[in-house]
Parts: sequence; structure tokens; C-alpha cells
Amino acid sequence: MDHSLSQKIIQLKKEKDAIILAHYYQRGEVQDIADFVGDSYYLSKVAKDCKENTIVFCGVKFMAESAKILSPDKRVLLPAFDAGCPMADMADAEGVLEMRKKYPDAKVVCYINSTAEVKAVSDICCTSSNAVQIINNIKEKEIIFLPDKNLGQYIQNQVPNKKIILWDGFCITHKKVTKEQILKVKDIHPDIKILVHPECEIEVIELGDFVGSTGGIISFASNSDFEKYLIVTEVGVLHELKKRNPNKKFFNPLGTMTCINMKKTTLENVYDSLLYSQHEIILDEDLRKKAYNSLINMHIFGR
Ligand code: 13P
Ligand code: SF4
Repeated sequence: MDHSLSQKIIQLKKEKDAIILAHYYQRGEVQDIADFVGDSYYLSKVAKDCKENTIVFCGVKFMAESAKILSPDKRVLLPAFDAGCPMADMADAEGVLEMRKKYPDAKVVCYINSTAEVKAVSDICCTSSNAVQIINNIKEKEIIFLPDKNLGQYIQNQVPNKKIILWDGFCITHKKVTKEQILKVKDIHPDIKILVHPECEIEVIELGDFVGSTGGIISFASNSDFEKYLIVTEVGVLHELKKRNPNKKFFNPLGTMTCINMKKTTLENVYDSLLYSQHEIILDEDLRKKAYNSLINMHIFGR
């Protein structure tokens, strides 16, 4: 790790009145210089309530965009300008409007992994940490859920009294894991605990001893006494897991599950981002206001 660059970032951050937020999928050295590290929901809460003028968001575009939607008066910077989320790009506003016409009585719930345009035509947002709670709290029985069909199917299984209308989106990183790979690990380590992110395929989710967000997975492993865990989500979470639990063993399927977009943030581009105020998230104010409603509804209903 480049300690001098980390020190420079910490110094510059103070001079610029900036806060650095990092998702658990970020590189270890990036997580280490952040003021707050967390899952999508937690980081969106911090972005909404923080006092600093500038937010440097070490994550992917929809996360930085969500921070800007919630905190329009702040400058929000995304160090890796091309860090997108392929799943977020699988849904578009026109498609959502068509679904609305087809199911006029349904509420539209969008996963936070979506574009500002999609949030603007949705009723309420959710993350993997509060999706089931939010759907339970909505009075409507019919819900259009997008873009992640796996998380949508998982919610449907948890909330059988509602009808979840699914979109055909998925995460390319979580999709790679198969049921057979998990069963193979269980064969070799019968005592291992399987902790799964709900973006995985449903047959993988069904093998989980625990299913939850990145933050939920970290809390579960840190608060239980088992020795070995198979962490079925992006490899970045192992950084925090190992820090908090030096005596436990953590494995990741496929050698490692890596989201290439999350790994585009480096200490170098975080430093440049602070120094040159790049790459700033700019949103049309009309669009931002519409997208704000669905995000703030998440913070109200997901409490
Ligand atoms: P969470 O941090 O909410 O679990 O989300 C995972 C993810 O895929 C973010 O892109
Ligand atoms: Fe998007 Fe999947 Fe990467 Fe999360 S892990 S940012 S859902 S591609």
C-alpha cells in the first residue's frame, strides 16, 4: 500500500472539507482511507446527513448519483468516471412506464442499483438490506420490482401474500456462482456457513445459512461463533471481515468474485478527484427532484 499517498489524501480531504465514502466492494487500500465504509443503504444515509461540502464516493455511478439526489447542495465526486453498474443499465425509464400502463394498480419499487431516470419514474427505492421490510410496509398487493430478478424472486419467496412482477435484470458478478460450486465447497468443509447476497441466482440463495446485504453478511459473521464461512458475494467484503475477525476463516467462491467496476477506484484517482474536483455528478434539477421522492421514501419506509 502507498502510505504517502494515503497520507496526502487524508490531508487534502481536510483542506477541501470533503468526506470519503467507500462501499465494501472497494479495494482494501481505498476502504482504509475512507471516513465511512458500508453497504448501499448505510452509505446513502451517511450521504444524506453529512455536513461536509464535498462527498467523494468510492463506489459505482448509481451510488454517487443517489448521494447527489439526496444532497443536491453538495459537490459529489466519483473518482473513477467510468465505474458503472451493468445491472443498473438493464432498466430504462420507458420500459418502466410501459410496465405501469400494463399494471396500473401496481407500485413500482426500484433497487437502488438503478439510474436516476429509473428512480424518477418509480414510487420507492430499496436496497438489499431493507427490500423485504419495504415491500411488507407497502399497502398495495401488486409490486413491479426492478431491475434485479434474483432479489425480486427472493422477496417474492419472503412475502408470498404479494405479487411481485419481475424485470429481467441481474448482476454479472453474482450470476457467475452456481449451486454446484457451493455444494462442492460444502462437501469439502461440511461445517462451513454459507452467507449469500440476494443478487445471486435463487438456487444459490436457497443454500444460504444467511441471506443479506454486504453489511448484513459482515454483521452475521462477526456476531456468530462459527469458524469457517463461505462468503458468496464480491470479494471486497473479505477486507472488513478479516479486520473484524482475525481468527475466523473466510472463503470466496470461484477463487474470487470480482466486480471490475468497483475495482476501478484507486488511491491515485481518489487523490486526483480531490485535487481537481473530478468527476462531478451533475443532474438535471427536474429529474433529481423526481428521483428524490423514491429515495426519500426508502428512508421513510425502510426505517
Ligand atoms: P449492498 O451493499 O446493498 O449489499 O449492495 C451490493 C451491491 O451489489 C452494490 O452494487
Ligand atoms: Fe453492479 Fe453487481 Fe457490481 Fe454491484 S456487484 S456494482 S450489482 S455489477
